[in-house]
Amino acid sequence: MGPFEWDHGYEVGIPVIDEQHRDLVSSISMAITQLSQENNPQELSPLLDGIAQHAGIHFKFEEDLMEAYADPRLQAHRDEHASLLPQLRRFKERNRAGVPSHKLEHVSAFLSIWLRTHINTQDRLLAAHLKRVGAKEAQA
Ligand SMILES: [Fe+2]
Repeated sequence: MGPFEWDHGYEVGIPVIDEQHRDLVSSISMAITQLSQENNPQELSPLLDGIAQHAGIHFKFEEDLMEAYADPRLQAHRDEHASLLPQLRRFKERNRAGVPSHKLEHVSAFLSIWLRTHINTQDRLLAAHLKRVGAKEAQA
């Protein structure tokens, strides 16, 4: 199984969040597959920009939910979301500078670990909060 194939390990039990995670995982997967088949897989900037944009929209959605349902962990969760963007920027800079360890497979490994860890910690806590307060998004 590839690092960006959807599996149940990604599910947090909030349908709208699971659906957005599934979209995010599949768009990263498609971009990486496409780029790995191109002649110059070293040019990662458009891939990283696309991922940053897609992730940004999804992060905002989660943060709005946390605000709407007064999740006490909003700030910690928001900080973790915000930490991804400078990491993507650093990959871009190092890739442009020709640092060999910042190639596609490293970006792919980094992203899959980051996403899984984030979903299994912050996003699971958010899901638990939404269920606890009886949010309509928590209903199947
Ligand atoms: Fe999140």
